[in-house]
Amino acid sequence: ERHRIFITRQIPEEGIEMLRRVADVEVNPVDAPMDRAELLARIADCHGVVGLLTDRIDAEFFDAAPVLKGYANYAVGFDNIDVAEATRRGLPVSNTPGVLTNATAECAWALLFAAARRVVESDGVMRSGQWTGWGPLQFIGGDVSGKTLGIVGAGRIGTAMALMGRGFNMKVLYTSSSGRRNAVLESELNARLVDFDTLLAESDFISIHTPLTPATRHLFDAASFSRMKPTAYIVNTARGPVIKEDDLVAALKAGTIAGAGLDVYENEPSMAPGLAELDNVVVLPHVGSATRSSRTDMATLAARNLIAMLEGRRPETCLNPEIYD
Ligand code: GLV
Ligand code: GLV
Repeated sequence: ERHRIFITRQIPEEGIEMLRRVADVEVNPVDAPMDRAELLARIADCHGVVGLLTDRIDAEFFDAAPVLKGYANYAVGFDNIDVAEATRRGLPVSNTPGVLTNATAECAWALLFAAARRVVESDGVMRSGQWTGWGPLQFIGGDVSGKTLGIVGAGRIGTAMALMGRGFNMKVLYTSSSGRRNAVLESELNARLVDFDTLLAESDFISIHTPLTPATRHLFDAASFSRMKPTAYIVNTARGPVIKEDDLVAALKAGTIAGAGLDVYENEPSMAPGLAELDNVVVLPHVGSATRSSRTDMATLAARNLIAMLEGRRPETCLNPEIYD
């Protein structure tokens, strides 16, 4: 009997094709996050599931899928998965690291420049026909070259983001939750491992690349913003709840910090009240990995991971490899 696989939303065809070669595959026909009850009903007879960061993969999910052999997340972030629960049940779960590193780091730079140089705000002035001609005091923004870049969470994406900035000769600071030093950043950029307070106080730009964990939830709140420079900008391409969004709105309104570039939100797809009305924030709809090659490579990596799980092999990017010991 062939294995049955459910994919909770349409992903690039290359990954679906790989799975169809080894199993019967069904894809959620609706291009929207899945309703919980429907998801739980659809996985009742499935051996494998490919899901999204919008799907909660927890005890209830596993209970609803009694013949499940594994779950492949179509995302690098895995705060939507209760990994400990999967491990307790001996079920492998995987994510898609590596294939979206450059895309997400590039998105962080897009947000950094858009916020610093007021790209979206000035684009709006052009489109609405309000521009009156060149003026010495119009749309003055922040300098980037030679300034200090603070990386919160110098993993794959944070490291790539900092390395991409080489041409801007920035001073680079980073924090590390494990306290582990980043040899690449230190040797390539003379980056300095600092504590969080130093990073807040000295950075002109802070870019968030930490996963969402209990320790990083609301890491940026009113107290953190008050310790930043009033000329500083914050960029978040990681997970929304790392920032307490109401406090960010207040800080942007009060001029506690200069601006923000956001790709992720505390309660997606909503934004905190007031955020969308501010000129000093650039808001993207969670598109960090949205490049042609990244989205395709995420699909084929998720497919390879799930195929390995169905065949009883350890997947390439397993979140609980210890279950194979
Ligand atoms: C997207 O946010 C991801 O985690 O891949
Ligand atoms: C995520 O892939 C990271 O390690 O930054």
